[in-house]
Amino acid sequence: MAKFSTVLIGGGTGFVGSHLAEGFRNVASKVLVISRMPGVGRISWNDLQQKGLPEETEVIVNVAGQNVLDPMRRWTPGFRQNVVSSRVLTTKTLAEAIEKSAKPPKVFITMSGVGYYPPNETAEYNEESKPAASDFFSKLCHDWENSGNLSDQTPTRRVIIRSGVVLGSEGGIIQRVYIPFFLGLGGPIGSGNQFFPWIHIDDLVNMFLFAASNEKVVGVLNGVAPQVVTNKEFSKALGSAMFRPSFMPLPEKVIELAFGKERASMMTEGQKVVPKRVLDYGFNYKFPDIESACKNIVN
Ligand SMILES: NC(=O)c1ccc[n+]([C@@H]2O[C@H](COP(=O)([O-])OP(=O)(O)OC[C@H]3O[C@@H](n4cnc5c(N)ncnc54)[C@H](OP(=O)(O)O)[C@@H]3O)[C@@H](O)[C@H]2O)c1
Repeated sequence: MAKFSTVLIGGGTGFVGSHLAEGFRNVASKVLVISRMPGVGRISWNDLQQKGLPEETEVIVNVAGQNVLDPMRRWTPGFRQNVVSSRVLTTKTLAEAIEKSAKPPKVFITMSGVGYYPPNETAEYNEESKPAASDFFSKLCHDWENSGNLSDQTPTRRVIIRSGVVLGSEGGIIQRVYIPFFLGLGGPIGSGNQFFPWIHIDDLVNMFLFAASNEKVVGVLNGVAPQVVTNKEFSKALGSAMFRPSFMPLPEKVIELAFGKERASMMTEGQKVVPKRVLDYGFNYKFPDIESACKNIVN
């Protein structure tokens, strides 16, 4: 029997969102996706604003957001604005629809990123760390998270998942680096010593399902694996899973030329992020270490 009636997923057409839709289909009687493009099982952001939440919506998830690392888009003020509004305005639209609903959903889970924590070579961040927003990406994550705030009178449980780099074969970083690694041209970015917070797509989906089903879960969860690795260690694990060398470093300057210095910092810098609250709640990872995650993805 389905656990939930209707589940609504903003950004459910993307890499993470389509995996979430698949995961929720096993536990819900209906999954609806909010998208800018019409299609079966979809509603538009405009429909949501005009008509409010679909009937019997019990779970709402939002992972919508313009791809920051789209190599075809220059890092212009207009594109930066699009990166912000595609996250902040969609989350805000959902929060407003929840506030207006006569029958608010049980739970509202929104995506955020580990970019919430400014890059640092020594600090260790868990969900209780409260660093000030000091760069574009940490400010973006603060605004993204705050845009989903609900009033104290609203009974909906609110959860935020601050995700690390999501590893899966159909999208994200693996799709971008697969061919260079396959050709034996893979390797770390810059020094490779920067931290690389990561999570396997199955664990991220399971974390959303866990948060939806477990009424005790509230507030922020760091969507990262418990094993902290550097960019160099990730490259080594991926190369070894693909039986390829991974010694070819990609110079920082090349990334900066291609993406602009600010955007390149997402790859050339990193933060050490640990999932303290996730483990305290008793969540079990399928892929807690980078070797098993990489092997599963490329085989
Ligand atoms: N992949 C990762 O490693 C990773 C790590 C941490 C956080 N995240 C966050 O997780 C979210 C999903 O990532 P993803 O890898 O699944 O991205 P993706 O494959 O590019 O999917 C993005 C989704 O957002 C929607 N979208 C894109 N531009 C939009 C816009 N301007 N306005 C409204 N909706 C828009 C798209 O929906 P339609 O085109 O159907 O409207 C699509 O479903 C993003 O917010 C990303 O920042 C991802």
